[in-house]
Amino acid sequence: MLISFNDVTKQYNLDEEKIITPVNRVNLAIAGGDFTIITGRSGSGKTTLLNLAAGLVRPTTGRILIGGVDIKNMSDKGISLMRNRTMGFIFQYPSLIPSLNAVENVALPCIFHKYSTYSDGYKRAVSLLQTVGLLDRLEARPKQLSAGQQRRVVIARSLINNPTILLADEPTSDLDECTEREIMDLLLKIHTSGTTILMVTHSLELTACATSVFRMENGVLEGSIRSHQHFC
Ligand SMILES: Nc1ncnc2c1ncn2[C@@H]1O[C@H](COP(=O)(O)OP(=O)(O)OP(=O)(O)O)[C@@H](O)[C@H]1O
Ligand SMILES: [Mg+2]
Repeated sequence: MLISFNDVTKQYNLDEEKIITPVNRVNLAIAGGDFTIITGRSGSGKTTLLNLAAGLVRPTTGRILIGGVDIKNMSDKGISLMRNRTMGFIFQYPSLIPSLNAVENVALPCIFHKYSTYSDGYKRAVSLLQTVGLLDRLEARPKQLSAGQQRRVVIARSLINNPTILLADEPTSDLDECTEREIMDLLLKIHTSGTTILMVTHSLELTACATSVFRMENGVLEGSIRSHQHFC
């Protein structure tokens, strides 16, 4: 398994009286080649689950194994390095650095990657921006790009270190139907080329593209809605 959750709970103490449980006793296994989609209403715990899968937050109880290794025994630095080498992350919120242009934003994770130089990264960033259809906007800063174009830069950045697994948090939110379709086609291409994907979304329509689909409600992950690819 690339990622497995064994009875994982995440709680936050808002004050002495109120405890919030965005992820409640979740079991989940992501194998190589999966395209897993988790749907659910706003506030159901999707982002928290994805952050746990990336080791960005740690569970309150339960075990998370990434690449077979229990992250409980890893330092924050160890988790960051492992994330940099094996994972791409598409954040829900704007995450591009405003002062860097598109190609610099995409190449940035290479600085922290032991096995690639920035100049290799720069070349690869140009090629990834070509893949996402932005070869003519390499020098544009994020604010000079549309929301859909910015999303494509984020997708290109998430692929810069050749991740084994891509974690995508609402990669198509706030986009028109046509751009949403384009981004989904891009994600499908990425999946077909061998990258495992774990994606969360509000949109039930997008689930047709997945190999398995789960629903989250109040922190609880409900059984697989479907476990094979429909079309796409
Ligand atoms: N750091 C935190 N401290 C306290 N509460 C938090 C924290 N992070 C998330 N929560 C709470 O956990 C719940 C789930 O949040 P989360 O962001 O995971 O939901 P979501 O399903 O991604 O929602 P959306 O679809 O709106 O993005 C929410 O009630 C939120 O307020
Ligand atoms: Mg969210």
